[in-house]
Amino acid sequence: MSVKLLVFAASHRPGSYNRKLATLASDMAGAAGAEITFAEYSQFDMPVYNDHEADLNNIPPAAHSFLKLASPTDGIIIASPEYNWSYPGSLKNIIDWTSRLDINILKHKTALLLCATPGARGGIVGLDHLRAPLAALQLHVFNRAFPLGHCREAFSEDGQLKNEKQRAQLQTIVTDYVTFTQKLAK
Ligand SMILES: Cc1cc2nc3c(=O)[nH]c(=O)nc-3n(C[C@H](O)[C@H](O)[C@H](O)COP(=O)(O)O)c2cc1C
Repeated sequence: MSVKLLVFAASHRPGSYNRKLATLASDMAGAAGAEITFAEYSQFDMPVYNDHEADLNNIPPAAHSFLKLASPTDGIIIASPEYNWSYPGSLKNIIDWTSRLDINILKHKTALLLCATPGARGGIVGLDHLRAPLAALQLHVFNRAFPLGHCREAFSEDGQLKNEKQRAQLQTIVTDYVTFTQKLAK
């Protein structure tokens, strides 16, 4: 059966390495039979959640946009930069808005986490942090993540990973994740 996935990179930066990684993973997931919706991060630019002022009957357009794109899917693939050994505050803000809605739209969906960083460790600490709030929203976070270190040198002009071993690793993780999502979506 075909599963629906939302894919996005948690970066606004033109030339974002995480967007490159998200694009690659999205192509691989599509080839593995998933139906993909690729979102730009700017679609999810919402005000910082303020528990005193938030009107949950009238959520900001960007929160609605996330809700609309994520609701019909079976899972989400997030390529998130590592910011200060964690993940970007803007991503936490999306999670916080989502958590306040009447219905938990992310409940029982799956998530695959990817990260591209210029450093050697590929942002593995940030990815570990990101698991916690997603688990709090009862997502099934795939147990394997893909931390890509030395990202400035990693991509060829056509957006592929130059290193064949890394490309094969990503392919395996993405394909296995699609299978995992298919099994849970049944
Ligand atoms: C606020 C901030 C904090 C950062 N902290 C880290 C970090 O903890 N670890 C790391 O490897 N890179 C860190 N970086 C560098 C980012 O990994 C790098 O800018 C990367 O290219 C961001 O992803 P993008 O290309 O998708 O925008 C940080 C960058 C910013 C802007």
